[in-house]
Amino acid sequence: MAVELDVERVICRLADLEGGARAFTLGGADWPLRGFVVKVGDAVRGYLNRCPHAGHPLDLLPQRFLTADGALIVCGSHGALFEKGTGYCVAGPCAGRSLTALPLEVRCGFVLLADSVDAAALGAGGRGGEPASLE
Ligand code: FES
Repeated sequence: MAVELDVERVICRLADLEGGARAFTLGGADWPLRGFVVKVGDAVRGYLNRCPHAGHPLDLLPQRFLTADGALIVCGSHGALFEKGTGYCVAGPCAGRSLTALPLEVRCGFVLLADSVDAAALGAGGRGGEPASLE
């Protein structure tokens, strides 16, 4: 039986994550959803590409999301450090806060944004104030 993929929700191939993390943009409106995905062991986690303390994209240098040892996510603007598996900030100006998680699915070797996520609302919410709810 063939498995259908919603191509508008495809982020990348799972094999593309061997380097650890990568940014993505979904949606073509004025405020697309900008996020990134990160490999955590055999699992994949997704987050809005927006630091919780000042709202900057984390990859000041494009596609650079991880510390040199690959153990943590780092914000390139001011150095906040986040756990890869939870998005929780363990050090830096937003210690104790968390990245906004994006539910994902892996199907047929592709990483997709979960059907439950309203990508347009999250993209619009990420342009200024607080991120939109995932509910
Ligand atoms: S914007 Fe990321 S630590 Fe300041």
